[in-house]
Formats: sequence, C-alpha cells, structure tokens
Amino acid sequence: MNRIYYFSSTGNTLAAAREFAAKLGDTELLSIADLDRAGEVDLSDADTVGIFFPVYCFGLPGIVQKFISRIVKGSGKYVYSLCTCGGMKGSAAYILEALLKERDIKLAISFSLTMPSNYIPRSIPVSENRMEKLFAKASRDIVYAVRAVKKRKTEALLHVFPFDVFGDAVAQKAVAFLSNYDRYFWVTDKCDSCGLCEKICPDSNIIMMNGIPTWHGHCEHCLGCLQWCPKEAIQFRKVTLKYKRYHHPAVKAEDMILKICR
Ligand SMILES: Cc1cc2nc3c(=O)[nH]c(=O)nc-3n(C[C@H](O)[C@H](O)[C@H](O)COP(=O)(O)O)c2cc1C
Repeated sequence: MNRIYYFSSTGNTLAAAREFAAKLGDTELLSIADLDRAGEVDLSDADTVGIFFPVYCFGLPGIVQKFISRIVKGSGKYVYSLCTCGGMKGSAAYILEALLKERDIKLAISFSLTMPSNYIPRSIPVSENRMEKLFAKASRDIVYAVRAVKKRKTEALLHVFPFDVFGDAVAQKAVAFLSNYDRYFWVTDKCDSCGLCEKICPDSNIIMMNGIPTWHGHCEHCLGCLQWCPKEAIQFRKVTLKYKRYHHPAVKAEDMILKICR
C-alpha cells in the first residue's frame, strides 16, 4: 500500500496528490491538517510515502515542518516529496531533506510543480489561459514522477549555492514570522457569518465571535480563509481588495473543511 500525506490550502497540492494517487494506484491520501497533532507518525506500514506540500517563503509551511518532527525515527521504506509553487521553490527540498535526516529518513527523490500562485498579496493572479498551460504541464510532470516512484528511483538533491547553505535558515525564519501576520486580516460588511473560514482553518486559528471571524495569532498564513470566503469579505491589508480570489478549479470548499474538531 502507498500513502501520500498532503497539506493544501487552495487545492493545488490536493489536486496534484489526487492525480498522483490515481496514477500510482493503491494509495491512501491523508490530510496533514486532519492528523492528531499529539500523536507520532509511523511510516513503516506503507511501501511508499509521499509528502506533498505548497512552498511557503522558499521553504516548508510550519504545519508540514511540525508533522515531520512527529515521524517515528527510521520508519519509511521509500520516502519522496512533491511540492507545488508559483515558480520559485527555493530551498524547500533542502529543508525537507535536512528535517527527514533528523528522523533518520532519506529523501529518495523530490519533485516540484509550478501552479498558479495563491499568494495574492504579492502576485498578480494568472490568466485562465496561463492556468490551463500550467495544469497541463503539471499533469505531464506527474506522469514522469509516478513512473519514477513506481521504479523506486532515487536521485540525490543537486545542492546549489547559496540556496543549499543559506536558503533554509532564511526560509525557516520567514515562515516562523508568518504566524503573526494574521493581525492584518480584516472583514468587510459583505460577511454573512457563514463560518466557512472557521471550518477550513488548518490551525483552528479562526473563531467566529458575534458572527464575525477573529484570528488568534497562530496562523499558517495559508490564506485559505481569504481565498475560499464565498462573499470575498476577508481581506489582507488593502492589497487584496482589488484581486480576484483563487482556488484550484477541481477542488471544492467542502474538501478543505477539517474533519476533526480541535
Ligand atoms: C504564505 C505563502 C508563501 C508562498 N511562498 C511561495 C514561494 O516562496 N515561492 C513560490 O513559488 N510560491 C509561493 N507561494 C505560492 C504557493 O506555493 C502555491 O500557489 C501553491 O501551489 C499553493 O498550494 P495549495 O493550493 O495546495 O495551497 C506561497 C503561498 C503562500 C500562501
């Protein structure tokens, strides 16, 4: 049996994980956001384990880093990774390789897919046409990656200075900084108190108070709340007022709702 652990806020990584799993066969998909945060993660019962995540600040989201720290040392027969990004994967693979090494696990091979960037405070949304091209290329890359995993291919990471030496420290600092950024979220009067933001927040950082979402300082900064809000009522500073929201077209809001209650 194969297993893929994934984290996704706007569906790019989830869509990639689904496509990958369908091609690989006999694969269970587990959402990292839905796992018990206190428990250990034992990989030993799966023949292959994929760790799928979006790149944040050239590195790994905090929730994925914490997940890796809970992996049982030395478990995992064949562990590989796939990241999705807006075109700049930075040091993500080096950081993952180092974190897995601390768990006595070798990263067999890593893949990356360029997808539409969901970081709307910094990137202009891509056109429909460009999106189609990115998805088509991602599908072709998945075919190649699945073939490599089926053959249990290993490929040492090509270390490229300065990303391999300095990149990880910078990226990890930047990601740690993101948790305080939730003080810049605010809500317009379009909010109809549906509470979807509270249900999809991977860190249960959003609490509805008097019908309005409030953020509580332990944010992944995944932007899921802002991107999925059906009324586009959630804003980040003023910059998001002018941008269209994004989520992967094959993924629905229900797919992002947490299955466990914290
Ligand atoms: C906080 C944050 C930081 C990001 N940093 C990067 C980055 O450094 N490089 C990049 O190419 N894309 C970056 N992105 C874009 C995402 O990696 C990309 O859109 C990814 O496919 C989203 O996956 P998801 O839809 O599964 O959440 C960032 C997105 C967020 C929310």
